[in-house]
Amino acid sequence: MGMLLHFLLVLFGVLPTIFVLIQAQDQSGFISIDCGLPAHLNYSALDTGISYISDAKFIDTGVTKRILSTEIILKHVTSGNIYLIRASFYYGNYDNLNQPPQFDLHFGANVWDTVNFPNVSVTTTREIIYTPSLDYIQPCLVNTGSRTPFISAIELRSLNNTAYGKYSDKSSVLSLSFRSDIGSITNLQYRYKDDVNDRIWFPFQLNEMKRLSTNEDLLGQGSYKLPAIVMSTAAIPVNASAPLQLEWETYNVNDRFYLYMHFNEVEELAANETREFNITVNDKFWFGPEIPGYRSVNTISSIRPLTGAKRYQISLYKTENSTLPPILNAYEVY
Ligand SMILES: *[C@@H]1O[C@H](CO)[C@@H](O)[C@H](O)[C@H]1NC(C)=O
Ligand SMILES: *[C@@H]1O[C@H](CO)[C@@H](O)[C@H](O)[C@H]1NC(C)=O
Ligand SMILES: *[C@@H]1O[C@H](CO)[C@@H](O)[C@H](O)[C@H]1NC(C)=O
Ligand SMILES: *[C@@H]1O[C@H](CO)[C@@H](O)[C@H](O)[C@H]1NC(C)=O
Ligand SMILES: *[C@@H]1O[C@H](CO)[C@@H](O)[C@H](O)[C@H]1NC(C)=O
Ligand SMILES: *[C@@H]1O[C@H](CO)[C@@H](O)[C@H](O)[C@H]1NC(C)=O
Ligand SMILES: *[C@@H]1O[C@H](CO)[C@@H](O)[C@H](O)[C@H]1NC(C)=O
Repeated sequence: MGMLLHFLLVLFGVLPTIFVLIQAQDQSGFISIDCGLPAHLNYSALDTGISYISDAKFIDTGVTKRILSTEIILKHVTSGNIYLIRASFYYGNYDNLNQPPQFDLHFGANVWDTVNFPNVSVTTTREIIYTPSLDYIQPCLVNTGSRTPFISAIELRSLNNTAYGKYSDKSSVLSLSFRSDIGSITNLQYRYKDDVNDRIWFPFQLNEMKRLSTNEDLLGQGSYKLPAIVMSTAAIPVNASAPLQLEWETYNVNDRFYLYMHFNEVEELAANETREFNITVNDKFWFGPEIPGYRSVNTISSIRPLTGAKRYQISLYKTENSTLPPILNAYEVY
C-alpha cells in the first residue's frame, strides 16, 4: 500500500477525541486522514493523487501523546447515505518491542473486527460499507490487552446510495472479505483514480481459467461505477463446457456473506452466438440466466446473506442454448 504511513505516531494519554471536519479536498466525497501527520503538513500520495490531511488539528488540546484508546468522530456525514470506510494500521515497531499489539475496532455497538498483525512490517487494513443512522460516524479502537492500540490512516468515501444498498438489513455493516479483479493482464492493483470510489481491486486468477480482455471502453455504467480497467478483463473456463468456479472458506458456519458479481461482455458476439449462464451457490440455484451486456456493466448481488456453510462454492454454468462459456469480470464478498 503506497500510503505514507511512516508519519505514524501513537497518541497516548489524555484526550481521546479527534474531531474531523471535511477540508476543501478536490476529491469530493472523500475524507482522507493520515493519523499522526504533523498538523501543518498535508500531502498528495504520489501513486493516487489522493490528498491526506492530519488529524492533529482536530485534537481538542495540544497535549496529546499517550492515550489508551483513540476515538475518532467523522462529522459531516449524512445519515441514510452509504459510505465506504477504510482504516489502515502500520505497526513498524514504533515502540521497539518487536511485537505488534492486538485490539478491537468497534463501530457503534457492532464489533467491527479484531486488528492483528502477521509481522511487524505489514500494513493491515479493515474496510466496511455502512449506512449511518446519525450524522456522524464514530469508529473506536478498544484495547483488549495491555498494549496501546493505534491507527495509521482512515479514509471515508461516499458511495452511490443505490449501490451495495440491496442487502436487507440496513443497520448491518458490510465488512470486506475480498474484492477481486478477475482476468487481469497487468497483475496490478487498482484504486483511485481508476476507481472513482477508491475501492482497491486485487488481481486474482481462478482455477482452470482463461483470460479475455478488450481495449474498448465501457459504455454502460450503473450505480457501482466500476473501473473500466477492471471490467475490461474477464475469465472463462479453460474447458468451454465446464463451469467457472470460485470458492472461499470460513471457520464459523454462522458467518453471513454478501456476494456482488460484476459482469461486462468483452466480446462482440455474432448473430449466431449467445453467452448465457446460471449461477449456483453450493450446487443450489442462485441466479439465472445471466446474459452480460456488451460494454455494459451489470451486477448480481445477494439480497439475503449466504450463511450456514464452512465452504462456499460459486459456479457459473452455461445454459443449454448458450454457444459460449460463462464469463466473470470482478467480484466482491463482504
Ligand atoms: C494543504 O496545505 C496547503 C499549504 O499549506 C494549503 O493551501 C491547502 O489548503 C492544504 N490542503 C488541505 C486539504 O488542507
Ligand atoms: C511479513 O509478512 C508478509 C506477508 O505475509 C511477508 O510478505 C513479509 O515477507 C513478512 N516480513 C517479514 C519481515 O517477515
Ligand atoms: C446513482 O446511480 C443511479 C443509477 O445508476 C444514477 O441514476 C444516479 O444519478 C446516481 N447518483 C449519483 C448521486 O451519482
Ligand atoms: C469438459 O467439461 C465437461 C463438463 O463438465 C466434461 O464432461 C468434460 O469431460 C470436460 N472435458 C475435459 C477435456 O476435461
Ligand atoms: C456462426 O456463424 C459463422 C459464420 O457466419 C460460423 O463460422 C460459426 O461456426 C457459427 N457459430 C456457431 C456457434 O454456430
Ligand atoms: C437456468 O435457469 C433457468 C431458470 O432461470 C432454468 O429454466 C434452466 O433450466 C437453467 N438451466 C440450467 C442449464 O441449469
Ligand atoms: C433453446 O433454443 C430452442 C431453439 O431455439 C428453443 O426452442 C428453446 O426454448 C430454448 N431454450 C431455452 C431454455 O431458452
